[in-house]
Amino acid sequence: MSDPGKKILVVDDDGGGRYLKAHILRKHGYVVDEAGNGAAALARCRTAGPDLVLLDVILPDVDGIELCRQIKTELPTAAVLQTSAAISSAHDRAMSLAGGADAFLVEPIEPEELLATVNALLRMHAAEQALRRMNETLENAVGERTRELTEAYRRLETEAVERRKAEQLLWHTQKLDAVGQLTGGIAHDFNNLLAVVVGSLEMIRSSLESSDQFPRAKVLRLLKTAEAATDRGTRLTRQLMTFARRSTLQPETVKVDALIRASEPFLRRALGEAISFRLSCDPALWPCRIDPVQFEAAILNLAVNARDAMPKGGDLEITASNETIATPVLERSGEVQPGDYVCIRITDTGVGMDPDVASRAFEPFFTTKDVGRGTGLGLSQVYGFIKQSDGHIALESAPGCGASFRLYLPRSAPVPAAATVAVPPPRNEFPTGTETVLVVEDNPEVRELATSTISGLGYHVLEASSGKDALDILRHNGTVDLLFSDVVLPDGMNGFELVHEARTLRTGLRALMTSGYANANRPGSERPEVPVLLKPYRRNELAERIRLALDGA
Ligand SMILES: Nc1ncnc2c1ncn2[C@@H]1O[C@H](COP(=O)(O)OP(=O)(O)OP(=O)(O)O)[C@@H](O)[C@H]1O
Ligand SMILES: [Mg+2]
Repeated sequence: MSDPGKKILVVDDDGGGRYLKAHILRKHGYVVDEAGNGAAALARCRTAGPDLVLLDVILPDVDGIELCRQIKTELPTAAVLQTSAAISSAHDRAMSLAGGADAFLVEPIEPEELLATVNALLRMHAAEQALRRMNETLENAVGERTRELTEAYRRLETEAVERRKAEQLLWHTQKLDAVGQLTGGIAHDFNNLLAVVVGSLEMIRSSLESSDQFPRAKVLRLLKTAEAATDRGTRLTRQLMTFARRSTLQPETVKVDALIRASEPFLRRALGEAISFRLSCDPALWPCRIDPVQFEAAILNLAVNARDAMPKGGDLEITASNETIATPVLERSGEVQPGDYVCIRITDTGVGMDPDVASRAFEPFFTTKDVGRGTGLGLSQVYGFIKQSDGHIALESAPGCGASFRLYLPRSAPVPAAATVAVPPPRNEFPTGTETVLVVEDNPEVRELATSTISGLGYHVLEASSGKDALDILRHNGTVDLLFSDVVLPDGMNGFELVHEARTLRTGLRALMTSGYANANRPGSERPEVPVLLKPYRRNELAERIRLALDGA
């Protein structure tokens, strides 16, 4: 099948042969052009752009193989069919093909063979062209798509940056809101407490200053009121410190089931008659390393919340079981890492929380309770304690469907046989002593209060306002049995560092620290093992802790 209209250039120096070939091709509809030598052939290629060149190998001015190479360089889309006399060797034919010819025919050529070869080459040529065009179209399409994708990616990047900016702004605003709420809450609560303390003290003073003094019982009552307010203030700051994860945890290796069971009577009393309480604990519960006092406070806070959520009664269930987390789970308090945990579930059948309340429940001072019924610090204490114990907390709740809290506490090494949770027996009298206590505190009022309290307990008291002064006293004074120091001290030496230095002067010197902010200035692994008494402390606590520090092993 011929392909009429295609342009063919016949190159042959032999006019007869050239005419014959051109004639056959014209007869079959091809547009035929002719050249008698290499130079004319190249010129025709440049002007006419043939689809196929029928090229004789032997030409007067140039070698046919070389000419083929030039045509292929200048007009790569043209097919070249090389022809040669019968005397040409196989080597010559191979050279022609190597030079770029697409096929080779030996003369004399039968018209039928010439036409068949020309047609086949033109078909190949057409297919090649189509392929080339398709490639070009594809390349263009790919290029276009790549440009579109690059543009989309750039747009996405810009959007992501803008979103990040907006999120940061929102986060900042929310943070400011939270800080405002927190500050407002603290100010409000402390103003109330201060009003009670100041009011009571003023009344006592005016009574003492006047001739008509209050009876002793009334003064005592006023003092009790002021003390109760300071107690409440102490609890408030402790809860805040716990939330801020700044409280001094006194961790012990414990079995939480023993702790919950020990609080059970108290919990039942707090819950009241209308609420049925169920406790079930895995008998082989793993031990945890936690502060038992904080843990009990957390359980109580959760139980009291459950009670408040069930004003008409209901069920409260606490379970404790061992749980192994295999893959990280995302909870409200962050990602629970794989590992062994003791999981405590506290589930009630109360009013539940809508998503908004649930998402804010752990915020300090967030409460839905009436004024005077809740400060919004209960769950903050739970949250802070759990986080400070390297644990996690999860909350599930829906309106009308109760609430379920899960506390995950990391498993610790087993409890040593002797280490049980020691609950000190209640004491009615303050322990006293006659040893010498060196009090180190930079705030003069606090130092004055501490020294008079300690000397009131019978001890001999020495005082220093900085670590440097304290070390001077230790160098030059005779007996010092106990160093009682604030953690935060002026002049760049904190209480722990002071104890460390003091013990280089007096090996085994007994020490007790006090702080309202014990994590501050805490030197990592250098920290010597010293018990810490939290500020503000009561006289009985101070008396007990001093005795314990002096008598302890
Ligand atoms: N078990 C629960 N069921 C329903 N709502 C709860 C539950 N526990 C907490 N909440 C909601 O979360 C809020 C915050 O609880 P949180 O314990 O922090 O503060 P509070 O109970 O309001 O006050 P506080 O504990 O300081 O007396 C509660 O006011 C209540 O709206
Ligand atoms: Mg509460």
